[in-house]
This record gives sequence, C-alpha cells and structure tokens, in this order.
Amino acid sequence: MSNNKIYILGIESSCDDTSAAITCNGEVLSNVIANQEVHAKYGGVVPELASRAHQQNIVPVVQQAIEQANITKEDLNAIAFTKGPGLMGSLLVGTSFAKSLSIGLGIPLLGINHMQAHILAHFIKEENGRTPPFPFICLTISGGHTQIVKVSDHFNMEILGETIDDAVGEAFDKSAKILGLPYPGGPLIDKYAQKGNPKAYKFSKPKVEDLEFSFSGLKTGILYFLQKNLRDNPNFIKENLFDICASIQHTIIEILMEKIKNAVQKTQIKHIAIAGGVSANSEIRKRLKLAEKQLGWSTYIPKFEYTTDNAAMIAISGHLKFLNKEYSDISVTAKARLKVNET
Ligand code: KG4
Ligand code: ZN
Repeated sequence: MSNNKIYILGIESSCDDTSAAITCNGEVLSNVIANQEVHAKYGGVVPELASRAHQQNIVPVVQQAIEQANITKEDLNAIAFTKGPGLMGSLLVGTSFAKSLSIGLGIPLLGINHMQAHILAHFIKEENGRTPPFPFICLTISGGHTQIVKVSDHFNMEILGETIDDAVGEAFDKSAKILGLPYPGGPLIDKYAQKGNPKAYKFSKPKVEDLEFSFSGLKTGILYFLQKNLRDNPNFIKENLFDICASIQHTIIEILMEKIKNAVQKTQIKHIAIAGGVSANSEIRKRLKLAEKQLGWSTYIPKFEYTTDNAAMIAISGHLKFLNKEYSDISVTAKARLKVNET
C-alpha cells in the first residue's frame, strides 16, 4: 500500500449505468461508465434487464477502472458502493460484488447514499476547482428525485422541499416521449431547444407550496396542447420541434429557478449548487451563472461528467467516509428507498 495515499474504489449500480471509479486522495484517476442500450427500445428502464446487464458489466468495468487508474487492486484502501436508493435488483449486483471484493482484499466497505453522492460530487478535487462552503443549498435534480437540500456538512443534509409527484428528469423524459423522442429524452430536448424559441409556446406552471415541486400537471398540459395542435396539423410536432422543446425546457427551468429563489429568501443562504442528471442541462447551467452576476449568489455547477450517474461521486463520498472511519458492517444491505438524510 502506498504511503499517505488513500485509494478508494467506487461502484455505482443503482439504475441503468454500471460504473466504477478510482479516487486517490479525492482526485479522480478513472471513472468508467457502461451505459445500457437495451432499455431505449422499451422507452424506459426495465428493471430485470438492468440487473442482468449489471451482472455482465460489473467485472470488466471494475477491471477497467483499476487499469486506467494505473494501480493494482492491492493498492485499494476501501470499497465504496451505492447502497440506495434505486432499483433493488440493480443495487444488489453492486452491493454483493463490493462485499465479496472487500472480504477478498481484507479492506473496509463503505455503503453510500446515491442522493448524497450526487451532492458530494462537488467535493471531487480538481485543479482550480471550487467547493461550496457550508452551509449551502443544493438543488438535486435527477430522473428519480427533485429536492432542495440544505447541506450543513458532508453528511448532514436536510430536505427543505421536494416534488409531490414526478421528478424533473421524468418531466423531461415523459415530454420527450410524447414528442416521439427516444429514452432518455432529457438530453435531446436540451439539444433541440438550443435551436428553438423558448417563448414560442406557453405552458402553465404548477401551483404548489413555495419549496415544493409538481410536474405531473405540466406533462398533461403538454399532452393536451399537442393533441389539439395535431388535430389541426398532423405535422405540427415535426414542423415545430425546436420551438416546442425550447418552450418546454424554458418552462421547467423557470420553475426550478423560482424555487431556488424561494429557498434563498427563506434561508438567506446564497451559496447554491446543483446536482444530478438534469444539472447537465445547458439552460439551468446558464441561468445559474447569470444569477451569480445578477443576484449576487455564488453558484457551483458540477463538471458535466459528474452530473449523470457515475461512480466518481460514489468514490469521493467513500473517501470522505473513510476519513471519518465510518465503515459499513459486512451485514449492510441494499435499500431501494433511502432519503438524502438517511444512511
Ligand atoms: O442522475 P441521473 O443520471 O439518474 C438518476 O439518478 O435518476 O439522471 C437522469 C436524468 C434523466 O431523466 C435524463 O433525461 C436527465 O437526467 N438529463 C437531462 C439532461 N441530461 C440528463 N435532462 C435535461 N437536460 C439534459 N441535458
Ligand atoms: Zn442519480
């Protein structure tokens, strides 16, 4: 084992990406991600297929992560893995693999909360990187979650508000599906939106409590809007795809920005971070940078590769837990449901 260097292997298998990463003292040496193409033709993640694909991918993905980091498995100090939340069948693959490897190598096991990890991706060490100071507000926006979290310390997080129905990633993906775009549609809406007019069409925003979110009404609104227009012009979507995508995206991002403003007003905290797959969205990234200038916030936007599911965020969370000696017992189990403030 090398002196003074802490090598952590991170393993992520909560949904449909099998990923393994190595960090050394909090810096990422490798971050290998195997996406599962198999779900695209079903228009969403099929849990049984996801779990099977994880089983096929996990050994080569971990092996590649170790090779790319230029270390051997004997250099590892601990193994961090996603304990939850996520799909049970998917989580079990990563959990049992991590447990076996930890027994085999005789090194500690670190069970990681996937939602905390999205936020802790901000603590990956980078040259010229800025990390948010505590306390900060994190808008966690992914395919399964939409939350405003007050982060008081690495592992001290409190949910200030969350969605009462769909997650924002689902709002993107379901809107895309209605438009006939393949899964996951979020990145495609983003891509097409760049060529469209965000004010071309207006969709009504939900009326919910100041820190709560709701996206199911928007989805229905978009469906009715399209049905109506398609009756008059069967080519409506094809002819106006860019404007429709830009308008949908604009509505969603407006909702997110309003909620962050509410959170700032309520907490008086002006350090704002975003995390999760939807934080890859170009408009939310742009709007936050603008808010830095216009509203005097300090904003923290993760590197693109650490927004959607990845194991680097699991490894950095493991690194921070390892420093606290917060090891998991070998009896640790996967948990499909796990809140951001639970371990
Ligand atoms: O965090 P993530 O990879 O997985 C979950 O833990 O859910 O988030 C995936 C979600 C999907 O809904 C995907 O459509 C969305 O993030 N997403 C985007 C963009 N990139 C990924 N949504 C909007 N714009 C993007 N550029
Ligand atoms: Zn995620």
